Amino acid sequence: MCKYTLTIIKPLAVKNSHVGEVLQMINVDGGFRIAGMKMITLSRQQVKEFYKVHKEKPFFDSLTNFMTSGPVVVAVLEKENAIEEYRKLIGKTDPKEALSGTIRKLYGINIQANCVHGSDTPENAIKEIQFFFSTSEIFDEEGNLIDVSIT
Ligand code: CMP
Repeated sequence: MCKYTLTIIKPLAVKNSHVGEVLQMINVDGGFRIAGMKMITLSRQQVKEFYKVHKEKPFFDSLTNFMTSGPVVVAVLEKENAIEEYRKLIGKTDPKEALSGTIRKLYGINIQANCVHGSDTPENAIKEIQFFFSTSEIFDEEGNLIDVSIT
């Protein structure tokens, strides 16, 4: 069971001023500890690499345009069974299909601008965290550095 997952609060949610509400749902209501967090803008190359499993999909170019359209907030989240718990909190990929009360239902616009990304497997969580964060950017509650790949 993996204690860590990665989330991206996507450009339209940042533009629409939903960062605070989303973080409230994650950190306070959802009980995830934020172990690392930053606001960044993604290059087209970063998006293509991050979403490379989707490179043959018809929406890949549009997803790349969208994910580079403004800053995103990336965060490392910690909780027991983090991946499954976070996927429950965010709901299905398409906000239309997400259960009420989930982050994507509340703040997602459509299947592409679905407010947040969440890792889908322990292997991908570690890869995705390491994609955005160095070992000097992830902390325990006391501020000590942690290596998510060995915990
Ligand atoms: P995410 O959880 O970040 O993982 C892959 C992303 O691709 C997904 O959220 C959506 O933003 C996007 N996506 C998935 N399916 C579609 C689709 N049919 N049309 C447009 N974008 C999609």
